[in-house]
This record gives sequence, C-alpha cells and structure tokens, in this order.
Amino acid sequence: MLLSNIISLLACVVTVAGQISPTNSTAVNAQTAAAQACAELQSDLGSTIVEASGAEYNATSQGPWSLFNSLDRPTCIVYPRTATHVQLAMASIFQHKSHYAVQAGAHSPMIGWNSINDGVLISFANMTSTSYNPVTDTVTVQPGVHWGDAMAAVEAYGVSVLGGRASDIGTGLLLGGGISFISPLYGWSADSIKEMDVVLVTGQLVTANATNTYADLFHALKGGANRFGIVTRYKLNAIHTGTKDNKNWFSGIIVYPGSSSVALSKASARYIREVTDPKAVVILNTINLTAVDANTVYLFYNGAGLPPGIFGDFLSIPRTSQTLSPLSYYDMSNLISGAARGNGQQFGASSWVGDESTFLEGYNHLVNFTQTFAADLLSSYLIISPIPQSQWAATASRSPNAIGDPGVAYATINFNLIYPTGLTIRPKDVNNGFKLLLSQTPPSPGLPLYVNECDASQNVFGTYPNFATLQKTYAKYDPLRFNVEHTVGPIGL
Ligand SMILES: Cc1cc2nc3c(=O)[nH]c(=O)nc-3n(C[C@H](O)[C@H](O)[C@H](O)COP(=O)(O)OP(=O)(O)OC[C@H]3O[C@@H](n4cnc5c(N)ncnc54)[C@H](O)[C@@H]3O)c2cc1C
Ligand SMILES: *[C@@H]1O[C@H](CO)[C@@H](O)[C@H](O)[C@H]1NC(C)=O
Ligand SMILES: *[C@@H]1O[C@H](CO)[C@@H](O)[C@H](O)[C@H]1NC(C)=O
Ligand SMILES: *[C@@H]1O[C@H](CO)[C@@H](O)[C@H](O)[C@H]1NC(C)=O
Ligand SMILES: *[C@@H]1O[C@H](CO)[C@@H](O)[C@H](O)[C@H]1NC(C)=O
Ligand SMILES: *[C@@H]1O[C@H](CO)[C@@H](O)[C@H](O)[C@H]1NC(C)=O
Ligand SMILES: *[C@@H]1O[C@H](CO)[C@@H](O)[C@H](O)[C@H]1NC(C)=O
Repeated sequence: MLLSNIISLLACVVTVAGQISPTNSTAVNAQTAAAQACAELQSDLGSTIVEASGAEYNATSQGPWSLFNSLDRPTCIVYPRTATHVQLAMASIFQHKSHYAVQAGAHSPMIGWNSINDGVLISFANMTSTSYNPVTDTVTVQPGVHWGDAMAAVEAYGVSVLGGRASDIGTGLLLGGGISFISPLYGWSADSIKEMDVVLVTGQLVTANATNTYADLFHALKGGANRFGIVTRYKLNAIHTGTKDNKNWFSGIIVYPGSSSVALSKASARYIREVTDPKAVVILNTINLTAVDANTVYLFYNGAGLPPGIFGDFLSIPRTSQTLSPLSYYDMSNLISGAARGNGQQFGASSWVGDESTFLEGYNHLVNFTQTFAADLLSSYLIISPIPQSQWAATASRSPNAIGDPGVAYATINFNLIYPTGLTIRPKDVNNGFKLLLSQTPPSPGLPLYVNECDASQNVFGTYPNFATLQKTYAKYDPLRFNVEHTVGPIGL
C-alpha cells in the first residue's frame, strides 16, 4: 500500500470514528491475515526491511529475554527505519486485520507481549539512535535503543536520561511508567518525556505532548503500555547528572545470608515508611532459591557516604559481603546488565505500603510458594522498589502520567520466577500456585500496580486511580478495539 492510500484510508477511519458501532474486527483467520499483510509489506518495503526467514529474522525472533517468548516464529518481521515504515506496517496490519506485536528492548517476560506466531512483528532493532540537543536540553531517542547505549551516547555532555536501572532494558519501559535510580529525585521515567511521535492503530502519525491536541494520548501512553499506539520517537528532558567521572553518588551493594530475610523485610518496610530524602535510593532483592539462599541490597546516596540515619538498619544487619564505593550516575546505570538469556521468566506485581506485617506475610507466602515448587524453579526473587512521595512530587511538576499518585509512600513489589535453563513450557501447577501467591499478596488498599512488573493475568489498569480516563482515551483512539483484539498486552481496557 502506498502512503497516499493510507492517508485516504485514515481519513475515512478517522471521520467515522466514534459514530460507527464497533464491528468484530477479529480476523477470520490469523494466519491468512498475517500472510496478506506480510506479502503487501514485502512488496512495498522490500525484503531487507520485511523478512520472513534468515539469520537476522532468527536472531530477532529468538532474541526476547524470556525463553518463553523466544520460540515464536512471526509470519514476518518488519524492521522499520523511519516512522513512515511503521505507518505503512500498521496500516497494512489494520487493513488485513492481522495480529501483531512490537519489540523494543525485548525484556517483557509477559507471554506474547513482544513476540508472536501467525502475526507481524515490528522490531525496532534498526531504530537505535540517541542525540542530545543542548539548546532545548533534550535527548531524543529512537525506540530501539537500550538504556545503557542511550546513556553512553550523551554521557560526555554531562547529561543522562531517566531510563531503567539495568543497561540492557529498552524504551518499552517508558510506556509502563519507568523506575530509574534517580526517580525519587526526578519522577517516573515516563514523566521526563517531552514529546512523542505516535503511529495510531490506523497508521496515522501524530505528535503528542502535554499541551497539544493529543495531550490525552500523551498522558495515556505514560502507563498505558502497548495499548495506545506505536511510539517512533521519544524526546526526553535531559537530566544533568554529570559525566562518568563525576562520582557524586555513594553506593553500597550488600549481600546478606538467607537467614536475614526477616530482618530485611522489616528494614524495608521501615525505610518505605520513614525515608523521605529524595537523594536516597534502595532496591532490595530478596532471593530465596533452591541453589543459593541470599539477599542483595543496593543502597545509593547522592552524596559522599551512606547516612546512617537513612540506611542504619541495612548497615547493622550481619552481612556476607559488601562493596562500598563512590560512583557516578553513569556507573550506577551500568552495575546491572540484565542481558542474560536462556531461561523462561515470569513476573507478578504487588504494591505495599511500609507496613512490617504486610512485608513479612508477603515474604512468607513467597517462601511457601518457592518451597512447594522448588523442583520446578531455578530461583524466585522478591524485588522491592520504593516509590517515595518525592517521586510523585517530581512528576507533578512536569505532567501527570496514567498511573496516578495514591498519595502515600509505597514500594512496587516484583515477584520474579526464573525457570530452569532450557525449560520451554511453564508447568501448569506452578502457574496455579503463582496465581494463589498473587491472591495472597494483594496491593495495599488504594495502591496502583506497576504494569512493567505484572503477571499477564493481573488487571493493572483497573488499579489506576484514573482508570475511567484511561478507558475513555482508549475508546477515542481505538474505537474498534483493534489493539485489544490484535496485540497481546495488559488486560482490562
Ligand atoms: C532484567 C530486568 C530489569 C528491569 N529493570 C527495570 C527498572 O530498573 N525499572 C523499571 O521501571 N523496569 C524495569 N524492568 C521492567 C521493564 O521496564 C519492562 O520489562 C519493560 O517493558 C521493558 O521494555 P523493553 O523495551 O526492554 O521491552 P519490550 O518487551 O520490547 O517492550 C515492552 C512492551 O512495550 C511494548 N513496546 C515497546 N516499545 C514500544 C513502542 N515504541 N510503541 C508501542 N509499544 C511498545 C512492547 O510491545 C511490549 O509489550 C526490568 C526488567 C528486566 C527483565
Ligand atoms: C469475533 O469473531 C471471533 C472469531 O470469528 C470470535 O471468536 C469472537 O467471539 C467474536 N467477537 C465478538 C465480540 O463477537
Ligand atoms: C533459522 O532458523 C531455522 C529454524 O530454527 C533454521 O532452520 C534456519 O537454518 C535458520 N537460518 C539461518 C540463516 O540461520
Ligand atoms: C539495519 O540496517 C542496516 C543498513 O542500514 C543493515 O545492514 C542491517 O542489516 C539492519 N539491521 C536490522 C536488524 O534490520
Ligand atoms: C506542544 O507542541 C506545540 C506545537 O505543536 C507547542 O506549541 C507547545 O509548546 C508544546 N508543548 C509543550 C509542553 O512542549
Ligand atoms: C528461604 O528463606 C527461609 C527463611 O529465611 C528459609 O527458611 C528457607 O530455607 C530459605 N530457602 C528456601 C529454599 O526456601
Ligand atoms: C503453600 O503453597 C501451596 C502451593 O501453592 C498451597 O497449596 C498452600 O495452600 C500454601 N500454603 C499456605 C499456608 O499458603
């Protein structure tokens, strides 16, 4: 299809949007629809941009972080180099009612969120540039870049971005909200977005920002995950963190024996309840596994040392080993890579206020789950990321995201199951046990769940305080509910 044809197709869709009653847009046959879209795209864009086999096709389809997502064989993979290519792909997918998936950094463990069978995969592997504009003080990233590379590209200017805490993670993080090491100071990563180019479900390209006609879309994309459109460019506010030589942070990485888990659960709850200094950061990994039984805590402070008034509990619990050193923000962002592949992965989310009994009960449920299914798992983690009120205050000074401030300090809780190397099918009883675990460890009343850390079965959007607005925006931009029916993602819209 030519771009001019798309535009006339769009014009018609856009005019009737909201007036026609939604038709059943489910494809008669997913395989046929995908084959038609792929044939059309291959003829329009050529066999370098649209591939159905070969080494590059294999590398991309086998590339997802979770082994469970690396087994799919898309009907074709589109490697756009421009937003126009994405427009053509989406228009064709829409017209032929094909299923599709989008892949940026490939880290979603949720089955089908970044991979597909009998459908079109749009891979951003060839849109990976990062550039800094000192005049506007913004960093523009294409969706295929990984945070480690984006930060490396602008480090020499003494600036960085609010991305993730592991260098291999990609920009899909922004669409879920995004927790960076400096989020307590600067807000959710998504809130650093100044502008986005977005290809809507019909193939129409729009630029959304906080004040223009697409402000509602801009808002919804920051937490609405893959439901609202395909972002082809992010313009981010630069963060003045210094270069890699500005070691203005102090870090402690402490490993504790498994027997410290109870003390650490209590220390975490208290930290979440009491610490309001936005220069302090903690991530807690409680690892309760079959092979190793240990806990790792990452402590960071934007200053020359770790203030005992803030980190005292963590510093007094007996430890196995520790690394204490001054670091730059750049160093911090390269401490964890997250790139290792080869295992099926599963996430589950909760959100807890800093209440000791909630932490202890949650921890004990994870221990029960892990012990019951010890033979089926390589390991299970409880990853605690504090979301202090300063994070929401920083967000409020920019423009709101779709998640919504619950008005209280809390932590996102990520249960991460790692399945044995090479295991390709998730055992059903483990999955049922995991659902039980999630029902035993619900979010504290009124807290939103974090979509980037959830299980595919969890209705995260329904926990957002402004869920009704998200639904309304979805109905406006995708009145036929094409995305809900044709691409796998968060449930509940
Ligand atoms: C090892 C590890 C460490 C992590 N650390 C952090 C962390 O520090 N902070 C944090 O907040 N989260 C973290 N996460 C969670 C992470 O934010 C999510 O997994 C996120 O979805 C990954 O984005 P991606 O681009 O790497 O993944 P992908 O799987 O490629 O993308 C994620 C989702 O977004 C969709 N998507 C991606 N790009 C686009 C686009 N341009 N337009 C439309 N849809 C798109 C995809 O279709 C997919 O559904 C971590 C995850 C892992 C596995
Ligand atoms: C749409 O069609 C599909 C398959 O033809 C069917 O499974 C589905 O239930 C239909 N949905 C609605 C809302 O009618
Ligand atoms: C791609 O993978 C398929 C299936 O695993 C294999 O048959 C084929 O040889 C691979 N192609 C290349 C070029 O590696
Ligand atoms: C990206 O584009 C280059 C040419 O510009 C090409 O050689 C390469 O194969 C492409 N990579 C992918 C993943 O499409
Ligand atoms: C949004 O974009 C418009 C132009 O399209 C511009 O006038 C306005 O200043 C932008 N708003 C913000 C907050 O960047
Ligand atoms: C996990 O932690 C608990 C409590 O510290 C401990 O009893 C148990 O042995 C640990 N290991 C496993 C595999 O559950
Ligand atoms: C422990 O987990 C098993 C397996 O999911 C479950 O059957 C059992 O009820 C759990 N026990 C408790 C006390 O939650």
